[in-house]
Amino acid sequence: MSRKPLIAGNWKMNVNHVEAVGLVQKLAWALGDFKYDPTKAECLVIPPFVDLRSVQTLIEADKIPLAWGAQDVSEHENGAYTGDISAEMLLKLGCSYVIIGHSERRQYHHESDFVVNEKTRNALAKGLTPIICVGEGLEVRRAEEHVPFTLAQVAAALEDRTPEQVAKVVIAYEPIWAIGTGEVATPEDAQEVCGAVRGKLAELYGDEVSEQVRILYGGSVKASTIVALMVKPDIDGVLVGGASLNPDEFALITRFYEASGGKSW
Ligand code: PGA
Repeated sequence: MSRKPLIAGNWKMNVNHVEAVGLVQKLAWALGDFKYDPTKAECLVIPPFVDLRSVQTLIEADKIPLAWGAQDVSEHENGAYTGDISAEMLLKLGCSYVIIGHSERRQYHHESDFVVNEKTRNALAKGLTPIICVGEGLEVRRAEEHVPFTLAQVAAALEDRTPEQVAKVVIAYEPIWAIGTGEVATPEDAQEVCGAVRGKLAELYGDEVSEQVRILYGGSVKASTIVALMVKPDIDGVLVGGASLNPDEFALITRFYEASGGKSW
């Protein structure tokens, strides 16, 4: 079963809507220069909510080979939830993906596994593809509890979903100690957990489902580290923060498939 690699750029709270137009244009040029082949990998930008309309308009008008998505979604349908953004609103803006449970949301907005589960339920029900973020902090890693910790987050996020729904989700393993720190998990560290996640999905939902789910690694990914990650059997892409704000660097990351490591894409 071949899973289409996904290269996703999470802009976080950077880039206003005017700057977003410039960044997407530069990225489009860089993708052209680096001969990005959309049949080999899916390339996705995830700007702040307020940029989405500008990004959508530009990508559609110029037919740029990019998908776009949002950094969060409400677990509620609509109504009196000041500050929240609904799945319907994101769909209307052409979003196909949404990040759910990023460690920065879990940390600064106290999002629990329960909330992550609810947001995942809502996104799937509406037809948005959730990118569910999981991963341990430094304390858990030092205690060598990172695998059970991460698997418990995966199981909690997906509880009560059907196998058909689970087959559609994307899981991003992002060890918190590697986010924005320049401290990259080694490809072996990343594979250990991504492989364990796939094993857990197989145990809970069967092999067919686990073979379909794309599992990403995230945490200080750069053009210089992408190939060693992508050649690992259970790493199907990356969630890139800082480096996604540099269009040349991000476009170079999308070119991982030119360096083969025995894995075919
Ligand atoms: P980083 O962020 O690439 O800047 O470490 C990754 C993420 O948080 O998604």
